[in-house]
Amino acid sequence: MSALDPKERSPQRIALLPGDGIGRDVTAEVVKVLEVVAERWRLPLELVPFPWNADRYLATGETLPDGALEDLRDNFSAIFIGAYGDPRVPDMKHAADILLGIRFGLDLYVNYRPIKLYSDALCPLRGKTKDDVDFVVFRENTEGAYVGMGGNFKTGTADEVAVQEEVHSRRGVERIIRAAFEWAVAHGKSRVCMSDKSNVMRFAGDLWQRCFAEVAQEYPDLETEHWFVDALAMQLVRKPERFEVIVTNNMFGDILTDLGAALQGGLGVAASANLHPGRVSMFEPVHGSAPKHAGTGRANPLGAILSAVLMLENLGHRAAAAAVEEVAAESIGEGFTTPDLGGGATTSQVGDRLAERLRSVPL
Ligand code: NAD
Ligand code: IPM
Ligand code: MN
Repeated sequence: MSALDPKERSPQRIALLPGDGIGRDVTAEVVKVLEVVAERWRLPLELVPFPWNADRYLATGETLPDGALEDLRDNFSAIFIGAYGDPRVPDMKHAADILLGIRFGLDLYVNYRPIKLYSDALCPLRGKTKDDVDFVVFRENTEGAYVGMGGNFKTGTADEVAVQEEVHSRRGVERIIRAAFEWAVAHGKSRVCMSDKSNVMRFAGDLWQRCFAEVAQEYPDLETEHWFVDALAMQLVRKPERFEVIVTNNMFGDILTDLGAALQGGLGVAASANLHPGRVSMFEPVHGSAPKHAGTGRANPLGAILSAVLMLENLGHRAAAAAVEEVAAESIGEGFTTPDLGGGATTSQVGDRLAERLRSVPL
C-alpha cells in the first residue's frame, strides 16, 4: 500500500460510482458542481467514472471486479457513490459486494452522518427551528448485524430456522467511540451520547457500556449520556435540540439516521461520509436508488451534493466546501428545490442553479 495519505496525491483522483436508479441522476449533478468547483478554486480534481451497477451485474455477472478495492485504495483520493439497489436484484447481491464491499474492504469504520436543518420550513416538528436540529451520528460501519454471519437450516420446511449474528469487537467498538469523542472535542461540543439496547442485548451492550465509560474518562471536559435506542428514537422527535453527537452501532445508526433525515427535510437532503482517517474514504447520500423516481427529474440532488461537500472538506478544500454548502442552503431558503422539499424544480435545474451560483460567488 502507498504510504502517502490519499489526500496528498496529486491530482486528487475521485472514483465516481453512480450506481443504480436515482443514484445516477444525483451523481450527474455532483459532477456539474465539482467541475465548476475544480475550475474556480483551481483544485486538481480528476473524476474517474466506474460503471459498476445492477445493469452491468445482470449483463456480466460481475459486481466489484477483481483488484478494484486495491485500485481504489492505492490510486484514488476519494470515492463518491450515488446509490445502489434494483428491483431486478432482490437479494441486493451487487449492492452488498460493491457498497458494503467498499465499506468493509477499505475498513471505513466511521459512518459520519450530520443531521442539519437548513430551513425551519423543512422541519416536520412543530415549533422546531434550525437551532434545534443540528447533531451528528457516528455510526459504526464495519461490524454489528452487517457482517453477514449466520445461516439457514431446514429452509422451506415447518421447522425452518434462520440465525443472524451480530459481531462487536473491542477494537471496533472502541475506535468508533473514540472517533465520536475526538470529533466532539475538535468541534467544541459539550456532550456525547451513546445509544444501544443493553437492557436486552446483554453481551454486546456490556462491551459498549464498558468501552464508552473507559474512553469517556479520557475526555473529562465532555459530558456523557446513554439512551436505549427505542427511547432515543422518541427523544429525537421530542427534543432534538439536546443532542450534539450520537455514537451507536451499525444497525441502530442506519435506522436513527433515516429518522434524522426526516428531521432535516427528508432523505433527499441527508449526507454521509464513510471514513477511515488517513485512508481513502467514501462519500454517499443517505438515500437509496428510489427506483420509481429514476430518470423522472424528481430526485433531489442535494443529499448527494452535500455529501460531496463532506468529500471536499475531507480532501482539504474547506473554502470550496463552504461555498457549495452555502449555495445549497441558499437554494433551499429560496424554495428552488425538487418536489420532495416543496419546490417545482427538476434534479438538473437544481444542479444547474448551484453550478451557476458557484461560478459567481466571490473568492
Ligand atoms: P430510498 O431512499 O431509495 O427511497 C425511499 C423514498 O424516499 C423514495 O421513494 C422517495 O420518496 C424518497 N427519496 C429518497 N431519496 C430521494 C431523493 N434524492 N429525492 C427525492 N426523494 C427521495 O429507499 P427504499 O425505497 O427503501 O430503497 C430503494 C432501494 O435502494 C432498495 O434497493 C434499497 O435497498 C436501496 N438503498 C440503497 C442505499 C444506498 O445505496 N446507500 C440506501 C438505502 C436504500
Ligand atoms: C444506508 C443503506 C445501506 C445500509 C443499505 C443499502 C445496505 O440503508 O446506507 O443507510 O443499510 O447501510
Ligand atoms: Mn439506511
